[in-house]
Amino acid sequence: MEYGFSGKMNGLQANAIREIFKYLSDPEMISFAGGMPNRAALPAEILSELSANIFRSGDIYGILQYGATEGYMPLRESSIAFAARSGITGIGIENTLIISGGQQGIDLTCKIFLDKGDCVLVEDPTYLAVLHILKTHEAKAYGVKADEDGMDIGDLEEKIKRYKPKFIYVVPTFGNPTGKTYSLERRKKILETALKYNVVILEDDPYSHLRFDGESVPSIKSLDKTGSVIYNTSFSKIISPGLRCGVCIADPKIIAKMTLCKQAADVHTSSLSQALSDAFFRGGYLDGHLKSILPVYKNKKILMKDAIKKYMPEDFKSTDPKGGLFIFGEFGNGINTADYFYKALKNKVAYVNGADFFADGSVLNTLRLNFSNSSDEQIDVGMKKLGDIFKGNL
Ligand SMILES: Cc1ncc(COP(=O)(O)O)c(C=O)c1O
Repeated sequence: MEYGFSGKMNGLQANAIREIFKYLSDPEMISFAGGMPNRAALPAEILSELSANIFRSGDIYGILQYGATEGYMPLRESSIAFAARSGITGIGIENTLIISGGQQGIDLTCKIFLDKGDCVLVEDPTYLAVLHILKTHEAKAYGVKADEDGMDIGDLEEKIKRYKPKFIYVVPTFGNPTGKTYSLERRKKILETALKYNVVILEDDPYSHLRFDGESVPSIKSLDKTGSVIYNTSFSKIISPGLRCGVCIADPKIIAKMTLCKQAADVHTSSLSQALSDAFFRGGYLDGHLKSILPVYKNKKILMKDAIKKYMPEDFKSTDPKGGLFIFGEFGNGINTADYFYKALKNKVAYVNGADFFADGSVLNTLRLNFSNSSDEQIDVGMKKLGDIFKGNL
């Protein structure tokens, strides 16, 4: 049959990472591709016990029933305490919306702000799923230059004037793909610039609790007194991505609009996932859990940096994050990492081409490496293979 798909589907391709997932079912594949927590970092035993308690509790029939779109009330309450960990205070229940993972918070923000042809500013490079989501909304992403401290303010201001964006999307702490953290000064400047031009900021923060080195930096939302920042966070990287649960904190007027769109999308986030997340927070498990996984992630980051030094070509430069899950690397000019991608898959090692993270897909000599998911041994073996591939020895 000839299907009459919407115009929106033209030019929409599978998100690069979801595509790579197809190859990852091969048990021999060493994957530096996805942003997956380590298997050992998934708190299965704790969740099993909490789950048994939930099923034994008097609340279980409410949990198994349809629930409110805004979220399971106990989790909305514990989200307020969770947000305080990022310096966000003075908020109430009306500022919270439980979402089915951070990705849904981005999609809902697009739904409430974007019409066809609207523009959004993103850091170059940015989280690639945002570029994909924007395409589904027939919106246009423009990349803003950035340095070690975050978005370049001159370029941001110039592009706000030129493109009149509906919002600015940033991942200021342990960004995906670079692992970089914006300085406090730059966060203040971004907020000041956004306010000057009356542009909303979507601050996406799934990674700030995964800090294994250095001092934490206040979220942009915590600096905002005007309601112009939407703070989007997720429990995927600190509890489990399979739960599909997170929270969006914003002005009640924004939350009300998002709620209307969420109602149409999925009615509400799985109440069982919400109850489990709530029990995890209320039971005080988060700190102990982070304490157990952060040294593991720190060690994996160090192992990957060492392996890069040992095996990768000399002109390969890479970031050195103090948290999060990713290292971003860049070769000298002339290398297109996409040309090596299938050779790497054939040799059972996977990465993500860096170009997929750029708004115009133009920076070809880059790649993203995830260090959290592989075993220590796989990091060494996989990086040796990548080194051989990029040196032309494989
Ligand atoms: C920057 C960023 N935002 C949002 C997400 C979405 O995560 P989830 O939908 O699992 O919460 C991710 C996942 O990798 C991410 O890296």
